Amino acid sequence: MLGSGGREHALAWKLAQSPRCTTLWASPGNPGIADVIAAHNARSAGTVRGGCVPLVLTDHGAVAAFCNEHRIDLVIVGPEAPLVDGLGDSLRGAGIAVFGPGQAAAQLEGSKGFTKDLCTRAGIPTAGYVRAKSAAEAHAALAGFALPVVIKADGLAAGKGVVIPQTAEEAAATVDDMFGGAFGGAGAEVVIEEFLEGEEVSLFAITDGSAIVAFGSAQDHKRVGEGDTGPNTGGMGAYSPAPVLTAELEARAMAEIIAPTVKAMAEAGMPYSGVLFAGLMLTADGPKLIEYNCRFGDPECQVLMMRLESDLVDLLDACARGQLADAPAPMLSAESAITVVVAAEGYPAAPVSGGRIAHVPEAEAQGAKVFHAGTASEADGALVAKGGRVLNVTATGGTLRVARDRAYAALAEIRFEDGFWRGDIGWRELARQSALS
Ligand code: AMP
Ligand code: GLY
Repeated sequence: MLGSGGREHALAWKLAQSPRCTTLWASPGNPGIADVIAAHNARSAGTVRGGCVPLVLTDHGAVAAFCNEHRIDLVIVGPEAPLVDGLGDSLRGAGIAVFGPGQAAAQLEGSKGFTKDLCTRAGIPTAGYVRAKSAAEAHAALAGFALPVVIKADGLAAGKGVVIPQTAEEAAATVDDMFGGAFGGAGAEVVIEEFLEGEEVSLFAITDGSAIVAFGSAQDHKRVGEGDTGPNTGGMGAYSPAPVLTAELEARAMAEIIAPTVKAMAEAGMPYSGVLFAGLMLTADGPKLIEYNCRFGDPECQVLMMRLESDLVDLLDACARGQLADAPAPMLSAESAITVVVAAEGYPAAPVSGGRIAHVPEAEAQGAKVFHAGTASEADGALVAKGGRVLNVTATGGTLRVARDRAYAALAEIRFEDGFWRGDIGWRELARQSALS
């Protein structure tokens, strides 16, 4: 399993529960993942041992050599960068099964313009757009859009490449910034889009390029501050399911967005295999695609793994081998799961590293699961912060409110002076539920 965040800790935790997981290796991993593997090793005493290893993921040959040396049956890639970089192709080329798309298919996340053109070809509902390869083209295109307008750097920009200017001056300045290199190579091309009104929701699907299964919905909170204010982050919390995506809307999104995407990718000779994470806008005209990601969401994965009742190895392995049609459908519990991100002071701009973290076991004693995101172990065994998002305090319950109360009761136990979290994760859905009751 490749990656080092809370998403990967949740994946490792779930993988280790499978009877088919005999040995688990992670790279680079984190202290939470190391604990999962140590416990797994202890249970399977006498057999081959796994662990966390610091592979350089951009060195595809070294990763393949490690997998062959340790006879690894399945590689699961957590983050997008190695997928967009073609690690999946390199490993498959070396005869190793991989959960995650190859480089061509990962363009669904790696190039916003690629995805928009695919939507046009396949008739997939999405915001109207223009691709621009120069500042002059972009300035000319802006004239055709109402305000606010959405301006996106084409390439990967760590979730920061989207600007929504409210005025023509701001829009012009954004175009100049992007072509001036504000997002590096990611902004060498931009996509200008119509602003969509509605509520956002995430839908996950697993596909091997032909068979497709829905894998649940979630909503996250991207802004750093309570009430969804302040700068964008990777996500400050999430919950699943997202009742706003009703069964009817989910079926519509699967039929009008996900299925035509998988078909169009196969027809284009770049079949998509892995998890397809669709960011949707629920507009007055129905669900429209905002963007695709070629991996699980972080922290959305944490809540999905809490709800997953069936075997994760069975699912990901069948997907990687193109045998999804023959695999049992994944089962997600009807319970709600919520995760609250504990971030280091200064996140997202300049998080403070090194703060000591204690009382994780006390938090878990409250009935929560604490996934590690950016943590490190000191030589004396102390746990410290290393990164912006540090912990994901995660809980389930029969209702979102019960899950939320459990997660916050656990959070109250955590000792981390340099940390902060939002106290209102789930507010939109909880307000809706209060209004109904
Ligand atoms: P993305 O990285 O494409 O998900 O965009 C980041 C955020 O910008 C999304 O989560 C939305 O909140 C917002 N956004 C992107 N595209 C649009 C759009 N066409 N209309 C309204 N909001 C958008
Ligand atoms: N939480 C949003 C993402 O993983 O892209």
